[in-house]
Amino acid sequence: MGFVAHVLYSHEFAYLHYNCMSQVLVIDFGAQYAQLIARRVRELGFSAELVPFNAPIDTFRRARALILSGGPSSVYEKGAPRLRQEAFALGIPILGICYGQQLTCYLTGGKVKRMKQREYGPAQVSITSPSPLTAGLPRASRVWMSHGDAVARLPKGTRAYGVTAHSPYAIVGDAQKKIWGVQFHPEVVHTQFGKEVLENFLTRIAGLKKDWSMPSFVASAMKEIKAQVGEGYAIAALSGGVDSAVATTLVHRAIGRRLTAIFVNHGLLRLDEEAQVEKAMRRMLKSDLTVIHASQLFLSKLKGISDPEQKRKIIGHQFIDVFQREAKRLKSRPAFLVQGTLYPDVIESASGQSGKTASTIKTHHNVGGLPATMRLRLVEPLRMLFKDEVREVGKLLGLPEAIVQRQPFPGPGLAVRIIGEVTEERLDILKHADAIVRETLDPLAKSLKLWQYYAAFLPGVRSVGVQGDERTYAHPIIVRAVSSDDAMTADWARIPEDVLATISTRITNEVSGVNRVLYDLTSKPPGTIEWE
Ligand code: XMP
Repeated sequence: MGFVAHVLYSHEFAYLHYNCMSQVLVIDFGAQYAQLIARRVRELGFSAELVPFNAPIDTFRRARALILSGGPSSVYEKGAPRLRQEAFALGIPILGICYGQQLTCYLTGGKVKRMKQREYGPAQVSITSPSPLTAGLPRASRVWMSHGDAVARLPKGTRAYGVTAHSPYAIVGDAQKKIWGVQFHPEVVHTQFGKEVLENFLTRIAGLKKDWSMPSFVASAMKEIKAQVGEGYAIAALSGGVDSAVATTLVHRAIGRRLTAIFVNHGLLRLDEEAQVEKAMRRMLKSDLTVIHASQLFLSKLKGISDPEQKRKIIGHQFIDVFQREAKRLKSRPAFLVQGTLYPDVIESASGQSGKTASTIKTHHNVGGLPATMRLRLVEPLRMLFKDEVREVGKLLGLPEAIVQRQPFPGPGLAVRIIGEVTEERLDILKHADAIVRETLDPLAKSLKLWQYYAAFLPGVRSVGVQGDERTYAHPIIVRAVSSDDAMTADWARIPEDVLATISTRITNEVSGVNRVLYDLTSKPPGTIEWE
């Protein structure tokens, strides 16, 4: 996976994530859906952030609404994540979801019990009394349940407003204190009116006004970058990926010429991509872009190396070396490094369950690990965003589709798609075959829900074939296409046969040195998405 950066974190930076600027705080009790809640709230037009349950109470004070996520624990278990009691006294409207609802009831005088039978999947909720939370909803609708505990007795002042077959307290609330709870998950698409429930809570109960949109995000991110960098100078390493391209462009908008971006072209990008990245970034950054053409250097360092991990290490180290050498040459002596860290990276290490602080933020990036001696502080303007939001920002900033809609691509590039030693000739073959795979599948990627699709090359294998009346003894190309939600697991894509036929015919006709095309039918696990 990516190279780890050893960049010094400043103390302020560690707490930047908790210096919440959002109206809505989603408090994470370890639910698999916690990120999704923040996502939904933003889709509704309200700024939202996810914070661990044990964040300092001052973090909550600035919020205008709190949403307590679900979670795998039982409230009565020893060591179960709890909300600080003071949070209930702040007078901020609260919506508890699943575990969040049970916890709210439990901590304010109610009782929670293990259910005889776990309730999982779709259920029908019926509204028993009207409430602001369910305004505009039909009397009965479908909701998504996932719980083994349930509220057994409500706290004083709290009433039930909705039931399901197994949950007499599916919707509860204390209208006076503005503390509400739902046993189901309004954030998942299987809950028919989930968005409406969240919106009702935010507008009718918490009285919030919409404050989140991509243009408003860009404006406030620029303000924040200016405040952080002050009169200082920054550098950015461009890998060709969407995250670093968008982060760099955004920072450049904010501080202009005081940012220098360095694009280390290792020659392992896909066909035409180097030129594409260079052209797009030159248009965005003008003269503040340094392009280092280092493909020969990388190729020479990779000579004779076939072990995948060794290839990764060499490429990582070379990337850092080249970047550092260029950075040292800068007269400006930059104090800041721009990184395209995304929200899921931040959350992963600052997770509610682990109770870790944001100072352990994962820096899993293509950027490369910079030695601590460079003492650079990180500027991470995308740390609040999800991948598709980053693409939207990129579009807003004027980056071309080809960059913004790029599929995930490994930092070591095509080097891990040539099984064995990397040579110029092999790279050439792979680039052409891969371009055919992409050209054919690009238009179908959305409908087939493709996460990644590419060609891999097996130069170590030769098989006999016949082309144009002649016997051939050449190499196979592997076509890999997968669907996935997060790259942790993946399934091989069911590509229509005629599409596979087109790919196969084109590759064998157009790419010399290849006489066979194989389609990879392996899921992850047991395989991985990449071949190396
Ligand atoms: P695997 O092959 O482990 O890949 O199933 C999961 C996801 O990670 C990408 N990948 C990498 N990304 N550096 C990266 O930045 C790497 O060394 C690397 N190896 C795999 C892969 O493309 C997929 O999206």
